[in-house]
Amino acid sequence: MSYPRPSQASQPSYGYIVSFHDLHPTPAAFREEVIAGLRRSRKAIPAKFFYDRRGSALFDEICQLEEYYLTRTELALLKRHAAEIAALVGDEALLIEYGSGSGRKTRLLLDRLPKLAAYVPVDISKEHLLAAATELAQAYPYLRVTPVCADYTQEMAFPDFEEFPYRRRVVFFPGSTIGNFTPGEAESFLRQAAEVAQRSGALLIGVDLKKDPAVINAAYNDGRGVTADFNLNLLRRINAELGADFDLRLFEHRAFYDPTHGRVEMHLVSAQAQTVRIGDETFSFAAGETIHTEDSYKYDLDAFQAMAGRAGWKAQVAWEDERRYFAVCWLTLT
Ligand code: AVJ
Repeated sequence: MSYPRPSQASQPSYGYIVSFHDLHPTPAAFREEVIAGLRRSRKAIPAKFFYDRRGSALFDEICQLEEYYLTRTELALLKRHAAEIAALVGDEALLIEYGSGSGRKTRLLLDRLPKLAAYVPVDISKEHLLAAATELAQAYPYLRVTPVCADYTQEMAFPDFEEFPYRRRVVFFPGSTIGNFTPGEAESFLRQAAEVAQRSGALLIGVDLKKDPAVINAAYNDGRGVTADFNLNLLRRINAELGADFDLRLFEHRAFYDPTHGRVEMHLVSAQAQTVRIGDETFSFAAGETIHTEDSYKYDLDAFQAMAGRAGWKAQVAWEDERRYFAVCWLTLT
């Protein structure tokens, strides 16, 4: 069921992005982080850099894969509990979404929240953010859409949004993107989210749960090789934006679940001994040496809620699918 649009007489009409806050990291920051990561004894590049235009499109493709149960399971949970979630959010909330992606999950909420004060998508990928925000603004013309382009893995000065009257802030962090943080980083992120949400705020967060490793391994090693392409695209991006000369044919995708750490590790494996240049910096690789490109932590629901508790959040509701593959959690501060 969806609500009728408020009439033009009672509500202003937007249909476009009302304001845009650009705190996007500079190309110099990208270069510095890549070079610092490749200088480490165990080479690593932060996963947030996957999401250029092509990387974001490849990720959207991953979300459609048979093996990638995460998106489908979370969407079904949001669909099934949309009315209850909307009632918890309440009227005139400021909905802040981190890592906003394509907007499919957002629409499930917006369809039930005709009186939202504003929707604030926060994402590192500027083009993807603006394209998705524009589409949402057009689809929900009564809604104030105010995107923020930022790297939320770093401390950031969040806009105060005092120009909009709103009752409470609700932080939406779907997709188990929290899994990209180490548990320590995840806890600090949750603490930061508590500050952003302010006292009366709430958090709606998607968390991928621990399960049969075979199911997890299949999700990160799909038969069509889309995940491999997504991983390798990082090198393509570094070539294009930083003038590097990675030969994509000489690196291979590797992803595996490590039950000890409860995480999927994703790597790019050098097929042979080789030297790569980024501008005038050179990096040598031994045969079989890897660049660690992503961690994707899986949680036990109790452990996740305990961690959120240490960051100041009180677990109120957790919705799980029948197989207990994924949980959508509602937490508040008071
Ligand atoms: C967007 C971080 C949730 O870890 O499952 C998908 C990214 N990496 N396939 C995940 C990803 C490889 C995804 N997150």
